[in-house]
Amino acid sequence: MASDTSAAILGTGSYVPERRLTNADLEKTLNTSDEWITTRTGIKERRIAADGEVTSDMCLKAAQLALKDAGLTPEALDLIIIATLTPDQPMPSTGCILQQKLGLGEKGVPGFDLNAACSGYLYALSCAKAHIESGMAKTVLVVGAEALSRIVDYQDRGTCILFGDGAGAAVVGLPREGRPAHRIKSVHLWADGRGGEQLIIPAGGARQPASHASVDERLHYVRVNGREVFRFGVTKMVEMIQRQMAEHDLKAEDIGLIVPHQANIRILDSATERLGLPPELFFTNLEQYGNTSGASVPLALDEAARQGRIPQGKAVLLLGFGAGLTWASALLEW
Ligand code: UT7
Repeated sequence: MASDTSAAILGTGSYVPERRLTNADLEKTLNTSDEWITTRTGIKERRIAADGEVTSDMCLKAAQLALKDAGLTPEALDLIIIATLTPDQPMPSTGCILQQKLGLGEKGVPGFDLNAACSGYLYALSCAKAHIESGMAKTVLVVGAEALSRIVDYQDRGTCILFGDGAGAAVVGLPREGRPAHRIKSVHLWADGRGGEQLIIPAGGARQPASHASVDERLHYVRVNGREVFRFGVTKMVEMIQRQMAEHDLKAEDIGLIVPHQANIRILDSATERLGLPPELFFTNLEQYGNTSGASVPLALDEAARQGRIPQGKAVLLLGFGAGLTWASALLEW
């Protein structure tokens, strides 16, 4: 049972758009194959936001489900944090847009965005934990959401096969009598800006503002150095799991589930093999959704919870890695 002074996840929710983009669809427009994509990534399909559907719309749907799961209404919230690299637009923040969509404009509830790419949800979770445990906030909504289909180059077979859209949310607060609460025991964040070029959207910011040339050169799309990021992902996954296990004196049997960032099945397989952990400890849904960046971990956590994959009282490890370069882990007591 969670103690009264530790922040806990009180409820989770997630949302993915209806539209599916399958490997067979990609075969029609690109020099690729279902066989290549499946064996190299494990991905079979991804979800794509409907025309006009934006990140804040997906945030709202995931947030409403998380609030329902927590038995709370939006009025309980006193802070909103959105982890995204695909905000509705550069300003105002998606946090403010979601705040208004939740009907909290008049109350003045603060909302902001945070960009740590695929580690973003864990960065946001650490902010929520710090706000709650310092007494600065009581109930925080954390959402990881992405409309990656808007920044993916569908002419680049090396990247467009990877990414999809979606959202995952958590309501974070202090445990309440008689309600489930999943204590956030520790969150660790890291970054190494020297690897910034490995995973980048070169234009659209202050360095290369939008121009005819930047559009012609397709600089507003995601660029990935696949092999480097692959190596980085495996190394950091292994390090983070080893560190959390050592810090909390965990053996494999103490872990209920590991919920990693859903980037590539071969990254997960390599890490699993190096660690010698049973593969069934790792939750995956990348086959259906691909890599949804900031949405990946909260979407997977919510699905795992709904599928009854997380045994009560066991440790849950959340792991993220991505652009920055950033990486982050969290240990929950389920
Ligand atoms: O959240 C973090 C975000 N980033 C990532 O997760 C990326 C991590 N990296 C990866 O997932 C993998 O590196 C990729 C899936 C991106 C690429 O797989 P790979 O096994 O590292 O392939 P590669 O880049 O070494 O390319 C091997 C070959 C190349 O052809 P050549 O030069 O050997 O003739 C590519 O042009 O595969 C080719 N290729 C493809 N072929 C068919 C690249 N993409 C495709 C494709 N279909 N979609």
